[in-house]
Amino acid sequence: MRVLALVFFSCMISLAQASDEAMQRFTRLSADPVLREQAYAAGQERMLFCGNCHGENGNSKRPYIPNLAEQNPLYLFSAFEKFASGERKDFVMSKLAPNLTLDDRVNIAIYYGQQKLLAHGEPVDAALLQQGEVTFKTICTGCHGVNAEGRDNTPRLAGQPAEYLGKALRRFRDKDPSRAGSVMMSIVADFSDAQISSLAVYLQQLRP
Ligand code: HEC
Ligand code: HEC
Repeated sequence: MRVLALVFFSCMISLAQASDEAMQRFTRLSADPVLREQAYAAGQERMLFCGNCHGENGNSKRPYIPNLAEQNPLYLFSAFEKFASGERKDFVMSKLAPNLTLDDRVNIAIYYGQQKLLAHGEPVDAALLQQGEVTFKTICTGCHGVNAEGRDNTPRLAGQPAEYLGKALRRFRDKDPSRAGSVMMSIVADFSDAQISSLAVYLQQLRP
């Protein structure tokens, strides 16, 4: 219950700027434990379908699909808006997002915010790991946090599958329209494939 309260608190602060309507819903839920439990249960119900790809506990079933467990609630919430508006594009997500109601999106953020990220068991190349660490600590921590834990609208990267991270970074670098307008584009514009792979390997084994 303490974790739930914390998730709520951080949601409320970050959603304050996102949407008045969502904010009101979070405020109502945080004041009422029964409603809160209902939101969690409704989120869980909705998740059964999403779980085919993202895993019922938010740990994805394929390396090219992002984990949602422990992701920042506001980032999850605003990802749906981007898919729905077409700013961000993905074959499946672009079709799903417009059908989620505001309640669905709030419930989903609450449900996944509470799931635990599981460890990846893959062996890693020590040199690659070190190269990734140096780049991350030099360029990325200011926004994504020292342990890639993320904040507000900046996603947690720690523990994401390396394949998903590599794909996302190459798209930003190559100015792929599927993530148009992202602040990430200029940041990784000059990155080599090797630099991207080392970052992906480093971030996958990192824990927030
Ligand atoms: C058929 C597989 C599939 C299903 C079902 C699916 N997703 Fe996704 N989802 C993906 C893929 C693939 C991506 C990555 C898209 C990209 O690369 O931009 C994604 C991305 C996301 C993201 C952005 C995460 C990030 O780190 O940026 C969120 C949030 C999300 N999905 C939530 C959901 C929810 C909630 C549902 C159920 C309503 C759902 N997804 C159902 C495949 C799926
Ligand atoms: C100026 C702040 C800033 C800096 C510096 C920054 N990022 Fe980001 N990053 C963001 C924001 C905001 C987002 C979410 C918006 C988006 O998806 O475009 C993001 C998104 C991402 C994503 C997509 C995550 C997902 O789940 O889809 C990856 C991967 C990423 N950043 C990696 C990095 C790496 C690696 C570095 C350092 C080389 C870095 N970022 C530096 C702000 C930053």
